Amino acid sequence: MSVTPPNVVEDSERLWAYVVAAVVGLVFAVIIYGSVHWAAQPPSNVETIDASRLHLAGEFVEGNLGTATQPDGSVVVRVIAQQYSFVPSCIIVPANTPIVFRVTSPDVVHGFLIMGTNVNSMVVPGFIAEVRTRFDNAGEHLMPCHEYCSVGHEGMWAHVKVVDRQEFATSFGGQPRASCAGQ
Ligand code: CUA
Repeated sequence: MSVTPPNVVEDSERLWAYVVAAVVGLVFAVIIYGSVHWAAQPPSNVETIDASRLHLAGEFVEGNLGTATQPDGSVVVRVIAQQYSFVPSCIIVPANTPIVFRVTSPDVVHGFLIMGTNVNSMVVPGFIAEVRTRFDNAGEHLMPCHEYCSVGHEGMWAHVKVVDRQEFATSFGGQPRASCAGQ
């Protein structure tokens, strides 16, 4: 007479419990990795532009560079990174305001980094790097190119000046573009 020993059922149940626990654990691991990874990396933006015609027409002509206040009160900052400078070389933005940086390059790959913040992107010719941020406090930040772009790389940097929201509105309220270059 054959009787199933009770531990066969028990072992089988336990095995399946482990399998289910492993699947649930894997799902949680994927969710946690995905959310942490997303929070740690700046969002990427795939938007292309003709790098050979930046200065001739379109969004990145000289008169359109710098900080532009939008109708909703947010600001868009357009910057060109080129061998070996940023245009404009001094960027002024209001504190406590949503800011979109749009940066592109006419020549080689540069780096866009605002020190003391998590703003950090590569600037690739033919693409527009877009970074969304806001600054909680007024202050000055150095903005070095952090991607080797040939012999003048070490000298390629700009300033970001964050000023009080009200001060920004008073100084640049009526102007289409703001920058602190030359101040
Ligand atoms: Cu531009 Cu390094």
